[in-house]
Amino acid sequence: MTADVIDSFRDTPDERLRAVLASLVDHLHGFVRDVRPTVAEWESAIRFLTATGQACTADRQEFILLSDVLGVSSLVETLNADASGDTTEATVLGPFHVTESPPRADGDSIDLVGRGEPCLVTGSVRAAGGAALPGASVDVWQCDDEGFYDVQRPDRQPPGNGRGLFAADEQGRFRFRTVVPSHYPIPTDGPVGELLRRTRRHPYRPAHIHFIAAAAGHRPVTTHAFVAGSPYLDSDAVFAVKPSLIRECALVDDPVRAAAAGLPNPFRHVEFDIVLRPESP
Ligand code: BEZ
Ligand code: FE
Repeated sequence: MTADVIDSFRDTPDERLRAVLASLVDHLHGFVRDVRPTVAEWESAIRFLTATGQACTADRQEFILLSDVLGVSSLVETLNADASGDTTEATVLGPFHVTESPPRADGDSIDLVGRGEPCLVTGSVRAAGGAALPGASVDVWQCDDEGFYDVQRPDRQPPGNGRGLFAADEQGRFRFRTVVPSHYPIPTDGPVGELLRRTRRHPYRPAHIHFIAAAAGHRPVTTHAFVAGSPYLDSDAVFAVKPSLIRECALVDDPVRAAAAGLPNPFRHVEFDIVLRPESP
C-alpha cells in the first residue's frame, strides 16, 4: 500500500516535489505502523491539527509554534546553516515577525514605552573575510521588559514597539537603543499550550533580541542575540539556543558614554557582530 501511494505521484513533473512526497508518505506510514493509532486517536490528532490551523490569524501563527516546540524549526535552520567558517549561526524565526519593522535611523530607540532597563545595542555586519557590509539591512524585534511583543498587547504597546529596520553605516556598523528584554512564555492559550500542559513541559524562552541581517551578494541570516545569564538558556521551549549567540548584557556606569548614547546612566550594553556568508559557495 505504501508503495502504491508513493507510485501515485510518479507523474509529478517537479522532481523535488515528487521526492518530498515519497519521503513524506514513507515516514507517515512508518509512523502509523509504529504507533498503531486507534481510529479515535487518529480523529483526535486531526482535531488537534484542525484547532492549530483555526488558531492562526494575521497576528498569530500557531503552526510555526507547533513546529518550534517539536524542534523542527530549529532542525531546519541548523541543517540549512553552513557549519564551516565563523559566520553567524541561524536560529528560529518564531511567530512574532508578523508586522513590518518600522524603518529607523542609526542610534534611534525601538522602545516607545519608556519602561524597563535601558540598553544600547551595537554591532556590525561583515562578510566572512572580515569586509564591512555598508548598507546591510538589520531587522530587529524583541519583547518588552514584561515579556510581551507589541502584537500581543496592542492596548499596552503602540504598534512597532520593540521593532526597527536599520541600515548599517559606511563601516557596516549599526546601533540602537532599547530596553533589556525579559524571558517569556510562548503563547499557551491555544492547542500548542495544551500540548505543553499535557506533557508537563514549561513554555519559557530565555531573553533574546531577534535579528534578520541581509546584504547584497550574501545569504541573509535569521538569528537571535541571547542575554547571558537569562533563565531558561538551558531549557528553551523551542530548542533554539546556540552558545555562539549568547552575549553579555554588561552594566555600563559612565555618564559620558550614557550621554553620548542618549540613555540614562547607568545602562546595559550588548554588542552583536554579524558575519554573513556569500550567496553562492
Ligand atoms: C520568539 O522568539 O519570538 C518565539 C519563537 C518560537 C516560538 C514562540 C516565540
Ligand atoms: Fe522572541
